[in-house]
Amino acid sequence: MTILLETRNVTQRFAGLVANSNVSISVQRGEIVGLIGPNGAGKSTLFNLIAGAFRPTEGTIVFDGEDVTALPAAERCQRGIGRTFQVVKSFESMTVIENVIVGALVRTTVMRDARRKAHQVLAFCGLDARADVLASDLVPSEKRRLEVARALATEPKLLLLDEVLTGLTPVESQKGVELVRRVRDTGVTVLMVEHVMEIVMPLVDRAIVLDLGKVLLEGKPADVVRDPKVITAYLGDRHAVGA
Ligand SMILES: Nc1ncnc2c1ncn2[C@@H]1O[C@H](COP(=O)(O)OP(=O)(O)O)[C@@H](O)[C@H]1O
Ligand SMILES: [Mg+2]
Repeated sequence: MTILLETRNVTQRFAGLVANSNVSISVQRGEIVGLIGPNGAGKSTLFNLIAGAFRPTEGTIVFDGEDVTALPAAERCQRGIGRTFQVVKSFESMTVIENVIVGALVRTTVMRDARRKAHQVLAFCGLDARADVLASDLVPSEKRRLEVARALATEPKLLLLDEVLTGLTPVESQKGVELVRRVRDTGVTVLMVEHVMEIVMPLVDRAIVLDLGKVLLEGKPADVVRDPKVITAYLGDRHAVGA
């Protein structure tokens, strides 16, 4: 295995707050890695830094052997970093297929090719029957799928999924888990943020735990869930007072 993504000593400050503190992680090609941790731990911030929504206060991001720290988001997307947003960002007044075409246009300027690609990706994501409805008419689980489809249409090497399995019914989240596995089977490396450990742990090869902006621990899921530091971070104050 070779490294696809590395963050080196990445720190992100917002005014007085340190959202990421000296975060060094790496993701190998072909892995599914779970980035977990309590609310406010800095998971989405790290995603934003990897995808290029903004530049880190300090530190370096290396993708596919290249220092991409100074590159804007669109150029990182060109190089193969695809992402979803925790707060779904579909173009509501466009149809489902049009939303995915926007992603496909990253790789081609020929509309017919982009449309064909978008249909393939929608079929892969189980959304083909909804291709012509407005994005605003989708139910929440379908909107998450649309986010994944649009990101996949950009043909990423690395797919960043921010809480795409959160808030779904058990059946929907199981379908989501299967979709992530199928994505990986096509050769795409996956780094996924999930708040709910029960959903993400059976799926990932490796888990990285963030807490208070720092890497608390990383390892195999079975070891991570048993670690007292992780249990304390998740249970927080309730644990401390013995509730
Ligand atoms: N754009 C921003 N401006 C100011 N503070 C932010 C911004 N984004 C995140 N934060 C803060 O950084 C911390 C980490 O947030 P976030 O990365 O969203 O955590 P998580 O995704 O793990 O829940 C929080 O305290 C949050 O309020
Ligand atoms: Mg988040």
